[in-house]
Amino acid sequence: VTAEKAGFDHFMLKEIYEQPKAYRDTMGSRLSDDGKSVVLNEIKMTPEEVKAIHNIHIVACGTAYHAGLVGKSVIEHLARIPVETDVASEYRYRSPIITKNTLVVVVSQSGETADTLAALREAKRCGARVVAITNVVGSSVAREADDVIVTWAGPEIAVASTKAYTSQLIAFYLFGLYLAQTLGTQEEAVLAETIAALQALPEQVEAILEQAETYKAVAEKIATHENLFFIGRGLDYAVAQEGSLKLKEISYIHSEAYASGELKHGTLALIEEGIPVIALATQDALLEKTVSNIQEVSARGAYVIGIGMEGSPSLEKSVNEQFLIPGTLSLLTPALSVVPLQLLSYYASLARGNDVDKPRNLAKSVTVE
Ligand code: G6P
Repeated sequence: VTAEKAGFDHFMLKEIYEQPKAYRDTMGSRLSDDGKSVVLNEIKMTPEEVKAIHNIHIVACGTAYHAGLVGKSVIEHLARIPVETDVASEYRYRSPIITKNTLVVVVSQSGETADTLAALREAKRCGARVVAITNVVGSSVAREADDVIVTWAGPEIAVASTKAYTSQLIAFYLFGLYLAQTLGTQEEAVLAETIAALQALPEQVEAILEQAETYKAVAEKIATHENLFFIGRGLDYAVAQEGSLKLKEISYIHSEAYASGELKHGTLALIEEGIPVIALATQDALLEKTVSNIQEVSARGAYVIGIGMEGSPSLEKSVNEQFLIPGTLSLLTPALSVVPLQLLSYYASLARGNDVDKPRNLAKSVTVE
């Protein structure tokens, strides 16, 4: 078993370290040699069919749902198509308005999650075209969808998903670019700039991983608490939700992810002396407002761990601990900012002596509704 873990203590840590490769493999031959366009041959839609899309529903469970939250922003930003992201176990029961001009994107690492599969079938029954983003070639979801974007993350063993999530993000970037390029919603220069930034991600993740040990001390501090908060705005909020889930799954610490601006509408009442708050602040356009939210929790005694970005104004004065991700486009920050959160969760779980790879009560794939 140690051999399978390639020298790592746990599959989760091994899989965290496999992310640069997963990014490279998922981008693979899907970017043109001149770096100017995306080549998604697996999408069989004609340009006319792409132009006929009125709206997109992204449907998934758990971590894949969190990738779908990022996917919504990415597609809306690049392709200007309205997108809704739903939890698969809720989707069918809210009588979603699905027409033949709705594109449904299901996201599933395993391709076998019962609720996601049921959502796919409901979408098809209503006449929608279904694109699947999955890590398993030949899975049920892959077989039943019209088009399949495979994430080449390789087998994921740890119950807490890491490289599958980030590969799903890469798939959404590729798909968003593909839609933008087909619809002509972005200048060529913007597409080229985004592709160049995507190609830089694997090395940037490597740079974060080289500093992995620096997360240990803070994680050990977090591990002594029973409650904590994640805050962020925009894409940082989407990543905050994934960070909170990761921490819950393997450390059993209760946490909540909040859109920073919503804090003062209730959650602020829970902030007391010493409570850890992990604040994501990688969105330059929202930075000033995020910093003022950080000050709201600091003023009430919170111990704030800030995740910022190199090249952006420093958070140092407003936070207790600062970690920086390498500089990238605002749209691409989730593919970097989630890595520190994975490491914090991993080390917090270790510090608590938990079974990192097999957390209590959870299964890798849930094939019952
Ligand atoms: C389970 C796993 C999660 C995963 C979710 C969806 O709950 O523990 O890590 O995110 O299922 O799985 P899927 O295979 O559909 O992505």
